[in-house]
Amino acid sequence: MSFTVAIDGPAAAGKGTVSRAVAAHFGLAHLDTGLLYRAVGKRVLEGEEPVAAARALRAEDLDAPGLRTPAVAQAASRVAVIADVREALVDFQRAFARRAGGAVLDGRDIGTVICPEAEVKLFVTASAECRAERRFKELKESGHEAEFEGVLADVRARDARDSERATAPLKPAKDAVRIDTSDMTIDQAVACAISAVDSARA
Ligand code: CDP
Ligand code: CDP
Repeated sequence: MSFTVAIDGPAAAGKGTVSRAVAAHFGLAHLDTGLLYRAVGKRVLEGEEPVAAARALRAEDLDAPGLRTPAVAQAASRVAVIADVREALVDFQRAFARRAGGAVLDGRDIGTVICPEAEVKLFVTASAECRAERRFKELKESGHEAEFEGVLADVRARDARDSERATAPLKPAKDAVRIDTSDMTIDQAVACAISAVDSARA
């Protein structure tokens, strides 16, 4: 029997951190769906046409180095507004969600479009300043040149593009549990998520 946990939210809200911890705690598989859009965005930066790149995507492409750069993140959010790109990625995500052992998927439209029947839906969010601060810290720690104002502008541009697009915009599912991580430690955010999953399994 499949058991799906859908985790959505804006950039750097803590979705990935929470998803990995929930997956490890409950022994579920995890798919970071942002990697699909990043892999397409990277191919587009290399000169490919977006819809063809999405249709040609293979699971191995998700391990490609260089998917976590700010330029690829912006390219990902630009290809993510194209309905045919999104359509090309639906089957892979739904098949992953239906795995026999259960799965956690995180992204922007998992609870609303990809898995509206998910047993648990979480909307993980935080203020834009707080999310930019986290991304800024990550960039610094990995040796990248970055300015806080630039990172904040990138986060805001992506928030706007992701929330305002016509197809599968970023928004909480009606029945999602909202977790605002602005003033939470990682352990607190993970504990909230685990307790929401526990309630759904009870
Ligand atoms: O997947 P998403 O972009 O939503 O965020 P993430 O990669 O899980 O988290 C972004 C950064 O925020 C990471 O460096 C986390 O360690 C950090 N974080 C945090 O400081 N406090 C939290 N409550 C959650 C995440
Ligand atoms: O890690 P972070 O939250 O910064 O970004 P990501 O989850 O890797 O997603 C990169 C971009 O892909 C987002 O800004 C969205 O435009 C797009 N995306 C989407 O449209 N739908 C998803 N399910 C996942 C990502």
